[in-house]
Amino acid sequence: MNRPSVLNRWDEMPQKPLFFEAARAKLLRVIAVTSGKGGVGKSNVVANLGLAWARQGLKVLLIDADLGLANLDILLGLTPKFTIKDLLSLQKTLSEVMVEGPEGLKILPASSGIPELAELDDHQRLFLLNELDHYSENLDVVLIDTGAGISRNVLFFTIAAVERIVVANNEPTSITDAYALIKILVTKYGEKRFKLLVNGLSRPQDGDLVYRALLRVTEKFLGREISLEYLGAIPHDESIAKAVLKQQPVLALFPKSLASRSFTQLARDLWKTPPPPEFGSTVKFFWRRLFHHHLKVEEMT
Ligand SMILES: Nc1ncnc2c1ncn2[C@@H]1O[C@H](COP(=O)(O)OP(=O)(O)O)[C@@H](O)[C@H]1O
Ligand SMILES: [Mg+2]
Repeated sequence: MNRPSVLNRWDEMPQKPLFFEAARAKLLRVIAVTSGKGGVGKSNVVANLGLAWARQGLKVLLIDADLGLANLDILLGLTPKFTIKDLLSLQKTLSEVMVEGPEGLKILPASSGIPELAELDDHQRLFLLNELDHYSENLDVVLIDTGAGISRNVLFFTIAAVERIVVANNEPTSITDAYALIKILVTKYGEKRFKLLVNGLSRPQDGDLVYRALLRVTEKFLGREISLEYLGAIPHDESIAKAVLKQQPVLALFPKSLASRSFTQLARDLWKTPPPPEFGSTVKFFWRRLFHHHLKVEEMT
């Protein structure tokens, strides 16, 4: 069983971590942040993790792929002129649609109600592929806010990424929904590796209980070859809600808060443990994988 790293020792977290300096990523890391249930903190994880990495000099693109409840732009206090919809309808190029967030973060904003990606024709796919291929050469990491549940869009973006972070809290419904999502990803799409982040806890040790509960059911029903890695827990912290109201990531507004220090620690831990090269992505790999899997999603739903 994977043990949590140091996130349980919130008191010991350094306030001003200096990481990433030495080695800039040679591979593009592509990480989907997903959940079974909505409202568990995905968008806040994406915004703050992205900001933590950007602060360390990494080039980060956040993709808002929550096409139902697109709100990453709102969390970051941005008012984008265009969205992924304009890109997909071939009205705008990627660089026209992308907006710059705090500290150099790049965001590809979404809008609710875009046509299903399955409806893209070959021409549109090729266009999007080329746009993203071209741009991703400047990036170290892509973080995708997938939205919640098991809809086609959520699955599409989740399987396209090389790494998958499932966010849950300690409510039983969040745990069962996380399991339902993992089950589909395993049984329908053959995914085997997942990372679990537990959010919104009053007591950090409860994260361990959530992890054990989820591990127990995945091992029992999906087999022991499924890897579920525990990333740790982000505490319940009112400064997150306050920062949301101010449309800023908590890391920007309250950098010394418990939540901010946890996000920073999470960013550091994650960066120290890249996937093995065979799971990694050269710059073009992600987008090829995305479109390859796209066909799979179409076939299987
Ligand atoms: N760790 C936390 N502590 C306190 N409140 C939180 C925490 N994480 C999220 N929240 C609250 O939950 C709300 C939903 O979070 P959000 O990131 O939008 O979830 P999701 O993207 O999964 O729907 C936020 O607006 C915030 O007020
Ligand atoms: Mg969200």
